[in-house]
Amino acid sequence: MAATGSEQEGTRAYYVSTPIYYVNDAPHLGHAYTTVAGDVLTRWHRQRGEKVWYLTGTDEHGQKIMRTAEANGVTPQEWCDKLVEESWKPLWEHLRIANDDFIRTTEKRHTDRVREFVQDLYDRGEIYRGGYEGPYCVPCEEYKTYGELLDGEGEWEGQKLCPIHKKPVEMLKEENYFFKLSAYAEKLLAHYEAHPEFIQPESARNEVVQFVRQGLEDLSISRSTFDWGVKIPWDDKHVIYVWIDALLNYATAVGYGSDQKKFEETFPADVHLVGKDILRFHAVIWPAMLMANGLPLPKRVAANGWLMVGGEKMSKSNLTGISPHELTDHFGVDAYRWYFLRAIAFGQDGSFSWEDFSARYTSELANDYGNLASRVAAMVGKYFDGALPEATGHGEAEQAIADGLARAAREADEKIGEQLDFAGGIAAVFDFIKQVNGYLTEQAPWKVAKDTSAEAQERLATILYTAAESLRACAVLLNAVMPESSAKLWETLGAEPALGPLSEQRIADAGQWGRLPAGTKVTKGAALFPRLEETK
Ligand code: MSP
Repeated sequence: MAATGSEQEGTRAYYVSTPIYYVNDAPHLGHAYTTVAGDVLTRWHRQRGEKVWYLTGTDEHGQKIMRTAEANGVTPQEWCDKLVEESWKPLWEHLRIANDDFIRTTEKRHTDRVREFVQDLYDRGEIYRGGYEGPYCVPCEEYKTYGELLDGEGEWEGQKLCPIHKKPVEMLKEENYFFKLSAYAEKLLAHYEAHPEFIQPESARNEVVQFVRQGLEDLSISRSTFDWGVKIPWDDKHVIYVWIDALLNYATAVGYGSDQKKFEETFPADVHLVGKDILRFHAVIWPAMLMANGLPLPKRVAANGWLMVGGEKMSKSNLTGISPHELTDHFGVDAYRWYFLRAIAFGQDGSFSWEDFSARYTSELANDYGNLASRVAAMVGKYFDGALPEATGHGEAEQAIADGLARAAREADEKIGEQLDFAGGIAAVFDFIKQVNGYLTEQAPWKVAKDTSAEAQERLATILYTAAESLRACAVLLNAVMPESSAKLWETLGAEPALGPLSEQRIADAGQWGRLPAGTKVTKGAALFPRLEETK
């Protein structure tokens, strides 16, 4: 977990959340996709010098978890404890996720506050008792409308299927408590209108607006046929609907009802990252709950697309056996973090393929970036005894590199830091890397080195300084995406004694030319991105 700088006490945090994941099973590539994206976003903002709060966690109540635990012969709490400690937290650590907190919905700090929140809505007249009958999808933990159901085929002939899970829905009939969601349609539409940035991307926003325009039904917010959940405070025969319970994590984890100061410094979220499957919960129900309670709304709900396998949303059942660990074993953690954000436009669906990952790893990470770093380090070692020379002949070709860097840094900041266009931001840095490689090919320092004249040696020094200074900037600009290789490169360049730790290099300064002083001790470390083993 990352510490938040104490010098920033009292200022508002840039608050980013992931969905809290169901712990019915171990995390897979799809969960890791959203969590890595949030980690890159928050690391980027930290490196801008901002105070940041990055929250993730687990959603542990509801029927889905209860049934899984039953099927495994343990209590739901035992099941959740085991999965969280043995699967979820270790994976986030392995992937270098620097979350500031991890909330579990079975924690008392959460359940007590959920009860208070719901009681408050009840006291305000926002909740009433009523009956409901309809098709329910347990994997979604959601009532479906008849119109959206699919007709089953084969083994499910004659049954109605959930459009997301392609599994039969169950008919439920219950006496429940209802939240007056229908009263919020107009207010929500007005909010979307006044804050066009509230839902991203544009296609997701349009979908939500369309949906709300058709009018909203009141929402059943309690269940009485099972008891794995937070009890309704005024009627303990009911548990609170798992989605109401879950959405509230974004408030309870940052001090709602317990630490007013922290709450004010953090809430509401700057960005709720969500998969598009759960967009409506975050862009319709969650803001309506907050309006009903008089709390401020999040600034942005950003929907990522789905990682697909064989044309379907990747899920535990159609993963074809690939786990995040399998990929990190082969490609390394940094490359894993980089690949999904680099290869898929955030907000769009994308397919994972082992071949595409290998090809991009080899061409962009190993050849373009890794080789550049090792060649430059080797030449500074060979020609200048590892002491970074001075660039006394900075000319037109060097200025083109300096300008290219300034452009790349600006673009990466705009795209990653503001637009959540990770692919675009990373591409800006890798285009710059290509430019530096082109510069080296043109300048051919290995040829210049053969001429021992003072003039040629000066030229050689300028070329190698230019390449090393470019790498200094790459380490800073790629640190949020690939912290391990960036740290290695920082070490290789001998940058720390002169410039301080990598984590303290500010994004705003990254594009400024000439920060790395001559004289740093350049060493040739291990390859940043070793050649892949031929096992696959
Ligand atoms: N527990 C709810 C969320 C509650 S948030 C208040 C839930 N959990 S989940 O375990 O099903 O995880 C859903 C999230 O995982 C998605 O919204 C998405 O962020 C991520 N993904 C799961 N599968 C995915 C893909 N195949 N592709 C991309 N992201 C995916 O829903």
